[in-house]
Amino acid sequence: ARILVLHGPNLNMLGEREPGIYGSDTLSSIDQRLMALANEADCELETFQSNAEAELIDTVHRARGLNIDFVIINPAAFTHTSVALRDALAATDLPFVEVHLSNVHAREPFRHNSYFSDLAVGVICGLGPLGYEAALQFALQHLNTTSS
Ligand code: DQA
Repeated sequence: ARILVLHGPNLNMLGEREPGIYGSDTLSSIDQRLMALANEADCELETFQSNAEAELIDTVHRARGLNIDFVIINPAAFTHTSVALRDALAATDLPFVEVHLSNVHAREPFRHNSYFSDLAVGVICGLGPLGYEAALQFALQHLNTTSS
């Protein structure tokens, strides 16, 4: 199985970015843990972060060609703004889980809406980096039960 992890804008700043909200882990430490978990499960994992909407969209488009079976995405601020990234996921029709480090529902009202949640298999928010690990565990289980 191949899983793609997509990180949206400003997540490259994790560790130094509003640590009271997003914690002190860096993005590379989160990705490394996911990579280790995927290795243990004999699964291939690709991770990609971009601050550019177009790059995220292009990567979603390429996912089919890369034989990706499942996507884990934290669209970050694009969660609340990007019809285009939503449409890209709808177009590829790949199952995905939406992850947010913070509990977006406990924050400003403009973070309460997501352009992704109704298309997602599931949504995780407020669990910090553990949310990504839970999403990966779910994806592995999901792929085991849908591919055999
Ligand atoms: C976020 C929440 C978004 O509202 C915010 O714009 C982010 C990160 C999170 O992981 O908690 O950049 O997606």
